[in-house]
Amino acid sequence: MSKPVILTGIRANNSLHIGNYFGALLPMVDMAQNKADEYQINLFIPDLHSLTADLDYANFQSVILNNLKMYVSAGLPLNKADVYIYRQSFIPAHSELTILLNSFIGMGELSRMTQYKEKSAKFHEDRIPVSLFSYPVLMAADILAYGASYIPVGDDQTQHLEFTRDVAIRINNLFGDIFVVPRPVKQQHALFMKDQGLRIKDLVDPSKKMSKSSESDKGTIFLNDKPEDAYTKIMASTTDSLGVINYDKASQPGISNLLEILSLVSKEPLDQIISSYQGQTSYGEFKKIVAAEVRDFLMKFQSSFDKIDEAEIYDKLKLSEIVMNQQANKTVYRLQKALGLRS
Ligand code: TYM
Repeated sequence: MSKPVILTGIRANNSLHIGNYFGALLPMVDMAQNKADEYQINLFIPDLHSLTADLDYANFQSVILNNLKMYVSAGLPLNKADVYIYRQSFIPAHSELTILLNSFIGMGELSRMTQYKEKSAKFHEDRIPVSLFSYPVLMAADILAYGASYIPVGDDQTQHLEFTRDVAIRINNLFGDIFVVPRPVKQQHALFMKDQGLRIKDLVDPSKKMSKSSESDKGTIFLNDKPEDAYTKIMASTTDSLGVINYDKASQPGISNLLEILSLVSKEPLDQIISSYQGQTSYGEFKKIVAAEVRDFLMKFQSSFDKIDEAEIYDKLKLSEIVMNQQANKTVYRLQKALGLRS
């Protein structure tokens, strides 16, 4: 029996931010450090997905390398056999599988995806990139190619996971056991010891998620921000006029977001953080505490980043990409046979 696969991808359109770090990267690193004997760990750069958003093409390779270095500074072990890091475009099976899946997926279901609706809204209808529309199909291919059961992602990607499960079940109903169906999202959260997916909010507009592609970078803490700049961003973050600290995402989204960030960077459980600060009335003092913790977190992270050996990363990529091509090609072949493309 092969091991169950845990898999996630993080686009490289920009440096990683703390939402990517706590929502996706850290759960993977924890698994890679502690569970690589029980699970196969796949962490990849969805470089083809990056093409769906604004991209500085000339610097794309260096952003990719930078993000890979961030994986390693976050603690990803490079010396374990069943931990793989790879680039999506180096495994052509992802693209092939996308084309094959396209015939079993409806335009309606893709146009109802929240991320598609949000991201397509800024384009004239004639110019909405087709890649934005088919983003979830490529994501399903990324997951199904390796038979992944667990996919640690932030809350914004839950809909894409449900879609992937639907597609896998649909194909299996038609052709027998072609794909491993990823576990229901609730079971996935249980494995990563969470009750739901994480969603860190933008510091300037806490009604939106923190994102790589925000118009201004004032609302986003990037892992390569200067620690002092991150301090300033927290101090300038939007709160509310109620004047009492409470964890209430609906009426105090800014303060609730800061409480969550403090819990994540200080590694103290959220309910403990809430009971320490609830009822306090100085937002300024509270922000200073959060800002100092974020600054310390970045200082530590960046000091390990500076020590990363790039050659070791390239060696690991090369090895991983050979194995990943073999695994993904097997899945594609199974579907090709079922579709009569191969005998
Ligand atoms: P990307 O690069 O947009 O996001 C990478 C991961 O970071 C999480 N994330 C957040 N988590 C909490 N709070 C936030 N503010 C926040 N912003 C981002 C995302 O949920 C994601 O887990 N579509 C994926 C990339 C992908 C993928 C895959 C993931 C492509 N193929 C296959 C898993 C499996 C994405 O959102 O990337």
